[in-house]
Amino acid sequence: MSYPYQIKSLKQYQEEYKKSVDAPEDFWATIANHFIWHRKWDQVLDWNFYEPTIEWFKGGKLNITENCLDRWVETQPNATAIIWEPNDPTEPHRTFTYKELHHKVCQFANVLKNNGATRGDRICIYMPMVPELTIAILACARIGAIHSVVFGGFSAQSIADRIQDAQCNIVLTADGGFRGNKSIPLKAVIDEALTTCPSVEKVIVLTRTSLPVSMIKGRDVWWEDEINKVEAQGNPMCKAEIMDAEDMLFILYTSGSTGKPKGVVHTCGGYMVWTNYTFVNVFQYQPGQIHFCTADIGWITGHSYIIYGPLSAGATSLMFEGIPTWPDAGRFWEIVDKHAVDILYTAPTAIRSLMSFGTDPIKEKKLHSLKVLGTVGEPINEEAWHWYDEHIGKRNCPIVDTWWQTETGGVLISNLAGITKAKPSFATLPLPGIQPILVDENGKKIEGNGVSGNLCIQFPWPGMLRTTFGDHERCRTTYFSTYENLYFTGDGCLRDNEGDYRITGRVDDVLNVSGHRIGTAEVENAINMHTGVVESAIVGYPHDIKGQGIYAYVIFNGIHIDENQTRLDICQTVSKIIGAIAKPDKIQFVTGLPKTRSGKIMRRILRKIAEGELNNLGDTSTLLDPLVVEEIKSNKL
Ligand code: WT7
Repeated sequence: MSYPYQIKSLKQYQEEYKKSVDAPEDFWATIANHFIWHRKWDQVLDWNFYEPTIEWFKGGKLNITENCLDRWVETQPNATAIIWEPNDPTEPHRTFTYKELHHKVCQFANVLKNNGATRGDRICIYMPMVPELTIAILACARIGAIHSVVFGGFSAQSIADRIQDAQCNIVLTADGGFRGNKSIPLKAVIDEALTTCPSVEKVIVLTRTSLPVSMIKGRDVWWEDEINKVEAQGNPMCKAEIMDAEDMLFILYTSGSTGKPKGVVHTCGGYMVWTNYTFVNVFQYQPGQIHFCTADIGWITGHSYIIYGPLSAGATSLMFEGIPTWPDAGRFWEIVDKHAVDILYTAPTAIRSLMSFGTDPIKEKKLHSLKVLGTVGEPINEEAWHWYDEHIGKRNCPIVDTWWQTETGGVLISNLAGITKAKPSFATLPLPGIQPILVDENGKKIEGNGVSGNLCIQFPWPGMLRTTFGDHERCRTTYFSTYENLYFTGDGCLRDNEGDYRITGRVDDVLNVSGHRIGTAEVENAINMHTGVVESAIVGYPHDIKGQGIYAYVIFNGIHIDENQTRLDICQTVSKIIGAIAKPDKIQFVTGLPKTRSGKIMRRILRKIAEGELNNLGDTSTLLDPLVVEEIKSNKL
């Protein structure tokens, strides 16, 4: 097996890039020809960024699971598709060949059908990082159901919002999940969520932790029982549903600067081509290598680079149930040695966290198998980059700094491992097909090098979002209306003198906490739900490990017991409403917030104070009450 479209040199990168801009349709048709289609497309691309309408491989028919499974069952049935490493290192790991994974997916697809699932249904998946999660996702895709995976750290309320928004009829979950020395009662959280989700008819529950769970007659069934039924029926195969290239593959919710999270929609054909192409090129994957992406499948990184990218390339993908610091801070390195991992793809926050334990946890580890390292989720600071390079890569592994978003489906800007040059803290160059531009506040294109601006993309690529579920107008206003005829990323960006791109972080009211996107408005709404809270404003501040921490300014009218207790109560409220990931790191009680005469909160000032830049607040003369700033400054945490 080889990948004819894998770029092998800098010169070839330049040539391919040029082709992708000069003749995008020919370029992508050539690549798409390397996949299994039931029918080829009539038109490679139809688009406008006004409505927007983005259609790739229009008229094409396929099933992504035939590309991820069946074709490899034919050519390499005994190659390993998935290596699963459990949370507890003393529990045996599990592996699945392509043949075995195909079998399990077909089996579970039949379970879904037995439970009433049909093409186009939305199925919510709230599961721990076990192989059955991957099986469940692929089983949905097999029958043309649309999966909506919700990260295991989200609260019942957040799940309910997502289930209601997508009108899911089936939920897939487990009794619980293991993470470090904790176990998480997933089914109990689902039970709470479902009290407000009348659309859900069936819940299929996997046994993982053996925590006691409530099982409601008529609604809840055990995964294992359902598998037994399918086996008794004696039909192990499940024919793949033939999908249109532009049929929805999945929904994944993500936060923005306003309102509730949006359901980002990806479709079958373009997403498949994009995740595969970027996987093969960015990581320079070679057949037989073991790819370890440490993300949770609850986020886009897991969708694209644990499941769809690697499996569509016939690769071996390692999935890890646990956390980097349990039983100790050497766990990643132990996994690398145990399974001879070739490619390690993780987040800057994980690197910084592991750095803080020093090099002792690495001392006994060989790390000889590593060939390529990657990062994603936030800008990587140079210190972390060099530590990763020196202590993990032993200065022998290219590091790819991959910039992308839930909305982009896969990597847009990154060096290609060992092919194009790496530059610490720079994502460097756009992939073929990606046409980035920088614009100023007025949407004017900023030309030349050595410039900064807001990062936009001016031409569609196969993996981009198509809509936000149930609300296309929201998709338009969020991404396509800030600047005419451009996709706006929400990120600020520098293009240096050599033309390399460095992402500098969000320019909207979105925080990036440990590589997870958190909308300020969402957190404020949650804080404001707490009894006694009159108003709040949150901003990000530099945090050694998380990248950004959450700093909350809260007007409160009636402290309960004492300030610290009230802080804990507010955090508990945020945990209940969103999930523990959105808990503020600092809560400062204030008597007022700096507002303009028109009532707008001046976040710039709050941000400066949270960052500790007390003497450089800029113009405060337009404030309604300048004195409030003095008070906030003097009580800064
Ligand atoms: C935001 C997207 C893409 C999967 C994980 C996050 C930031 C992501 C990088 C990087 C600098 C990065 C951006 C982006 N981001 N990767 N390599 N360098 N910033 O997905 O939750 O959709 O967040 O993460 O700000 O807009 P997400």
